[in-house]
Amino acid sequence: MSEMKRRDFMKASGALALASIIPGSLRAAISSESNILPELEIELRAVKGRIALLKGRQTEVLRYQGRVITGDTKSLIAMPNSYLGPTLRFRRGQRVRIHFINELDVPSIIHWHGLHVPADMDGHPRYAVQPGERYHYDFEVRNRAGTYWYHPHPAGLTAAQIYQGLAGVLLIEDEDEQALLLPRGEYDLPLVIQDRRIDSNNQFQYIGSGMASMMDRMRGFLGDRVLVNGHLNYITKVAARPYRLRLINASNARIYKLALKNGQPLTVIGTDGGLLAKPASVPYVTLAPAQRTEVWLDFSHYLVGENIELYSEPFGGEMEMMGGGMKCGGKMGSGKSNGGMMAGPSNGDALPVMRFQVAEKQAMTSSSTAINLPETLSRIRKPEITNAVNANSPRRFALTMQRMRWGINGREFSMMAVANDEKVRQDTTEVWEFDNTVSGGMMGAMAHPMHIHDVQFQVLSRHHDDKYANGNKELAAGFLDQGWRDTVLVMPGERVRILVKFEDYTGLYLYHCHNLEHAAMGMMRNYRIS
Ligand code: C2O
Ligand code: CU
Ligand code: CU
Repeated sequence: MSEMKRRDFMKASGALALASIIPGSLRAAISSESNILPELEIELRAVKGRIALLKGRQTEVLRYQGRVITGDTKSLIAMPNSYLGPTLRFRRGQRVRIHFINELDVPSIIHWHGLHVPADMDGHPRYAVQPGERYHYDFEVRNRAGTYWYHPHPAGLTAAQIYQGLAGVLLIEDEDEQALLLPRGEYDLPLVIQDRRIDSNNQFQYIGSGMASMMDRMRGFLGDRVLVNGHLNYITKVAARPYRLRLINASNARIYKLALKNGQPLTVIGTDGGLLAKPASVPYVTLAPAQRTEVWLDFSHYLVGENIELYSEPFGGEMEMMGGGMKCGGKMGSGKSNGGMMAGPSNGDALPVMRFQVAEKQAMTSSSTAINLPETLSRIRKPEITNAVNANSPRRFALTMQRMRWGINGREFSMMAVANDEKVRQDTTEVWEFDNTVSGGMMGAMAHPMHIHDVQFQVLSRHHDDKYANGNKELAAGFLDQGWRDTVLVMPGERVRILVKFEDYTGLYLYHCHNLEHAAMGMMRNYRIS
């Protein structure tokens, strides 16, 4: 079906979305995709709004608002007093239908980050709808239980729209995960972490003009204040018991090195694609843009009234200068200097993130959720490298910088373009290598969080060039490569190999750097499954 026809068709089937009153046979005739009644039908609108973030003038934002049309009303819960969109809760195997209505004055489309869905349900920029138009999604939830998120993906506008507030949490549950009795309900906390620059009028400040703005584009836009779930200086009251914390980095370009100020290690139970096989104790969690990490945190060891602070530790090595090029305020190895001709926020800054305040003592018995962390969390059925069609000759993606623009294998995004080396076969397993040893020029090398749509993959190996020892040393203990990932942080001088299987669907999907300014600049490409 041509793109235009497809869109008309989507409109038509949407007009007939009053599915419940249409006989099944007729619906089947309308669309093979929507011939199963969805168990859950929701509406999400992208709108302009205002929120009270600070005293004084309200902050102008873009936001998603939603409602449940059919199905469990708890499948969509508004994020309290926040610009963030409602938290969606899907079940594996569920059939969902989502009506997206664009009430902005610019094109938009929603992408379900981390979800395995047909190509025309994935929110590729080619499906962006104009102001006043809608797009209808209809898919089966096939992912493992876990923490995902949704955000806009229109060409050239993604970074600004997410920055202005368009993003939301998407949780998936399944039977295996529910049987574990992990903390749930009010003890299961999604924590969306974002950084912003806020001007003296209380407005989110994005890329301006001039020399500084060029650096903001090249490096990625960094804020100097951290918001959690849309709040500055976020404090959440907790009971003296274990919690499931779902950390989501929805920042444009900031990498966090999340740790507890009191020095206690963090117990990680999940990553982008769901639960780990077993819990892992780490000194800190490295959370690159778009990544998620789930942490089990037991507050029963703390006193009532105690404050437990989560912060981002300082680090260096995210950006490596070569040949003494221009300084951009980036940390160069030591993680201490903030010099350079354009001082400003840097990746690697120490930043407060949020605090937990222990509010009540709770009896440790009589609870429907486990008080002890299960030793085994899930079964991870890894694809076998021996099944890969190219085990010894990885498909290589060089992360490049040419003529002051980021790219992949020297190419930039173009709406429908797919090069020969970007074509894969359905039902095959491949080794891909992201090679960050070649980028250079004035910017030196930077860390790139590389994301692939439609899949969850396994990280096979990291090879590190000794020239750039710092970055890896300072962040590696928090990488958590053992879990499923859809986004992997590739440090300067590093070659990261991943194992990825392309199943079920064919078509055009994106892969890109999730530093949103890098992606906007061109560090994004299509790949085709056929
Ligand atoms: Cu969060 Cu193209 O993705
Ligand atoms: Cu994605
Ligand atoms: Cu990048």
